[in-house]
Amino acid sequence: MTQTTAQYGGASKEAIQHHYDLSNEFYSLWLDETMTYSCAMWEEGSTLKEAQLRKLDHHIDAARVRGAAHVLDIGCGCGWGAMLRRLVDDAGVASAVGLTLSEAQAAWVRSRHDPRLDVRVESWEHHVPKRKYGGIISLGAFEHFARPDVPKSEVIESYRRFFSTCHGWLESGGAMSLQTIAYGTAQRKDLNRFIVEEIFPESDLPTLADIDQAAHGLFEIERVRNDRLDYARTLKEWYFKLRACKAEALAEVGEETVARYERYLSLFAVGFHTGAMNLLRLSLRRIDPR
Ligand SMILES: C[S@@+](CC[C@H](N)C(=O)[O-])C[C@H]1O[C@@H](n2cnc3c(N)ncnc32)[C@H](O)[C@@H]1O
Repeated sequence: MTQTTAQYGGASKEAIQHHYDLSNEFYSLWLDETMTYSCAMWEEGSTLKEAQLRKLDHHIDAARVRGAAHVLDIGCGCGWGAMLRRLVDDAGVASAVGLTLSEAQAAWVRSRHDPRLDVRVESWEHHVPKRKYGGIISLGAFEHFARPDVPKSEVIESYRRFFSTCHGWLESGGAMSLQTIAYGTAQRKDLNRFIVEEIFPESDLPTLADIDQAAHGLFEIERVRNDRLDYARTLKEWYFKLRACKAEALAEVGEETVARYERYLSLFAVGFHTGAMNLLRLSLRRIDPR
């Protein structure tokens, strides 16, 4: 990947599109029917779809947005709209806004023509809300909010800007539910070059301490779960689904890309299994100024 237009402290739109705009058809071969592209929440005997829906409901409850008037999904919409749909169809939310940098994902959601949904191809940094949100959810996007080649102090600054912006958008008493991959035993210097250059260019991971520092005084961390084994399992499911429809995948994106994804899914599964990486689900309560 060549270097592209920089924006704020995170990955550029081009870097994001490098990954997510590959082909909706390719992703639909190995994701579940809801096209959710982040770690699921497993229980004994669940199917991948059930585990994904359980995860969506977990975040809806953690952000306390059942019946809310207006909700924001940053890094929507569960890839291709699953969270937005769940909010308005099942959780009684009147309207939901989704932000994504991926044209393919936005087009998918817009093709449903649902007036309750507003999907925007814009970074959270450029978003200007029409009114305050009752709650905010962000799944699997925080990983793209810092670059791997900048000093740690700048990384914390970018994260703080994110938390401070969300704080300003939330109604008093509002909450945010955040899901992100984080460093576990691995450190910045250990991040595999293949992942940084070929899979998620211009992206870096936070540590739990980074999040705590960046959110300090803005959000109270009410609950944190580290569900890394849930991600190991999700990645294994994706990997075996991809292997099971390899012929269609090859026809869709070619040999080199399929091999790249097989390598990435298996590398990540091992990373979560061994604890090199964690999967954090954080419930954050807006601290209202006195
Ligand atoms: C791994 S996908 C997760 C999608 C979805 N939340 C899910 O769980 O299925 C990451 C998403 O974050 C979005 N994203 C990355 N950086 C962003 C930014 N600065 N502003 C808004 N969305 C961003 C990407 O476009 C992509 O939709």
